[in-house]
Amino acid sequence: MMMEMRKKTSLVLVTPLLGFLLLLLAGFLLPPVAQAANKGMLTGVHGNRDLMPKSCRACHRGMRMSIRGEEKVCLTCHGGPVQRQAMEAGGYLVRSSRVNLQSIEAELRKPYNHPVLTVKNVHHKDEELPESQVSAKRHAECVDCHEAHSATRDKPFRGIQGKRFGNFVTDVSKEYELCYRCHGRSANLPADSTDKQLEFRLTNKSYHPVEGEGANTHVISLKEPYAERRQRPGDISVISCSDCHGNDNPSGPRGPHGSTYRGLLVANYEMEDGRNESALAYALCYKCHERSSILGNESFPYHSQHILGNRGKNQPGTSCFTCHDAHGSSSNQYLIRFNADVVEENAAGKLEFKAQGVASRKGSCALSCHGVDHEPKRY
Ligand code: HEC
Ligand code: HEC
Ligand code: HEC
Ligand code: HEC
Ligand code: HEC
Ligand code: HEC
Ligand code: HEC
Repeated sequence: MMMEMRKKTSLVLVTPLLGFLLLLLAGFLLPPVAQAANKGMLTGVHGNRDLMPKSCRACHRGMRMSIRGEEKVCLTCHGGPVQRQAMEAGGYLVRSSRVNLQSIEAELRKPYNHPVLTVKNVHHKDEELPESQVSAKRHAECVDCHEAHSATRDKPFRGIQGKRFGNFVTDVSKEYELCYRCHGRSANLPADSTDKQLEFRLTNKSYHPVEGEGANTHVISLKEPYAERRQRPGDISVISCSDCHGNDNPSGPRGPHGSTYRGLLVANYEMEDGRNESALAYALCYKCHERSSILGNESFPYHSQHILGNRGKNQPGTSCFTCHDAHGSSSNQYLIRFNADVVEENAAGKLEFKAQGVASRKGSCALSCHGVDHEPKRY
């Protein structure tokens, strides 16, 4: 803390050149936490002098070379073509046929996004995430997910601080660790949001396999190359948040910046009751789970009856979301979590799912749904 104070006051007092030297020196002066981020050097893509000949100056400009973590500086190159051309004209960026910088700004303007453009002056360079203050305003800036001095193409979040062990902070190495900085045990989670770190725990009854391989060894609907266990070289048995959350346009820039689909999802997912089933309605799930297997009742014998509904009997089709959580469940197998907007307690006051066990394809549900009492119903 003392060190930080001293650095700040010096920067205000000294001439620009000295300020620049101090920035370089800051790498040595900063407390261990900040040093871990390697701020005195450019170890990632931004260190390529062929592309960015003015080095630090590409981002640190003005009298004191001071910088705040707002997106504006990043969008000079990662925004629209007009800004980028100005950077080229200023000699900060060299046009190269190898590099195709797409607009992240355009992504952030899509209807479902991280609030990078809309939340201002909340990010603080010395902040600690996950947030411990209940009243702290929520935010997400580029620099919360990308460490500009060390980001690489393969690891765009390299250098971001993750877990804390006493005085030491390790860098984020897995994407989910990055997301948990704000969607895990943050004290300021919105009321309608939950702790994702709890949902993906490998000790849960069921979970989508993000932190490690899944709890279920018989997921019959899985499409290649997805598999319960990695047995052959091409098998994918562990997925990432980005497999579901990210750009709706597969040929646009990667990452959870923005999407035209609700939930910042890569594909459409209807969550309401009464929608007609189609490849599009549940496209997100059908990306990895064979539609014909689900509708063919290869696992749950009443999948099609519930999902398609029965118009003759005036029973609307229902969404996967009515019965399944997309993340994980600490209490139920098969990602079962009933949607409270649709499903209620049965006449006996019960609301529960019981499964007989992996691959038995037998279980029971006690609940009430559209006036149909399950007291309980078995399958
Ligand atoms: C691609 C843009 C970019 C480049 C290039 C860059 N920086 Fe930075 N730097 C940033 C941003 C953004 C921050 C603020 C991060 C935050 O607020 O969390 C920062 C912060 C810093 C800090 C911490 C400052 C403080 O007030 O705590 C130091 C030190 C630093 N940079 C040094 C350098 C040096 C030295 C170079 C050149 C070798 C350099 N940076 C090049 C974007 C850049
Ligand atoms: C002067 C132009 C410039 C500025 C300013 C700039 N970048 Fe970059 N950025 C680049 C270039 C060039 C690359 C390399 C692209 C490549 O190799 O394909 C890059 C790559 C990246 C990557 C790695 C992913 C990739 O496609 O290679 C990330 C992440 C990134 N920048 C984030 C940021 C952030 C965050 C800021 C603001 C703190 C920022 N950039 C500011 C020019 C810039
Ligand atoms: C620095 C904080 C921060 C980090 C890191 C972060 N987020 Fe967020 N995220 C937010 C904020 C703020 C919102 C707006 C809603 C809220 O406050 O939760 C949000 C919203 C979302 C939403 C809901 C969007 C919608 O329109 O419904 C999803 C999905 C999401 N984030 C996924 C992710 C994923 C995946 C990662 C990791 C790759 C991640 N986030 C990392 C701060 C963060
Ligand atoms: C990126 C690929 C992917 C997507 C998208 C996906 N899944 Fe999965 N899902 C998997 C994998 C891999 C497993 C196997 C996990 C295991 O072995 O336990 C799985 C397992 C499951 C299971 C069984 C879990 C258990 O423990 O029994 C259910 C239920 C499920 N998914 C439902 C869904 C639903 C509903 C959606 C859409 C909201 C969806 N999945 C989207 C990859 C995916
Ligand atoms: C199999 C697909 C899938 C995976 C993997 C996945 N999500 Fe989601 N996520 C969804 C769906 C579908 C929704 C919207 C329905 C809902 O809210 O449950 C959602 C909603 C969200 C929301 C907004 C609702 C809320 O509770 O705030 C956040 C934030 C989020 N996910 C974060 C994450 C993070 C972080 C990861 C990785 C650790 C992740 N998701 C992995 C499918 C997925
Ligand atoms: C909530 C976290 C988050 C925020 C905020 C965020 N990014 Fe990203 N970004 C990611 C993740 C995660 C990836 C990589 C996804 C992957 O590897 O599939 C990524 C990828 C990228 C890439 C590489 C795209 C590609 O296809 O090569 C660039 C460039 C980038 N981000 C720049 C930015 C800039 C500039 C900002 C701010 C204007 C920003 N990001 C804000 C999480 C974020
Ligand atoms: C009425 C509740 C309900 C609805 C709606 C529902 N499921 Fe299920 N699903 C279940 C139950 C119960 C099981 C567990 C069956 C067992 O005991 O093996 C299951 C099992 C699964 C499994 C794991 C086994 C397998 O088939 O690979 C997947 C994946 C799955 N459902 C996906 C979906 C998708 C995708 C949708 C929407 C298109 C959906 N479910 C809609 C109740 C439901």
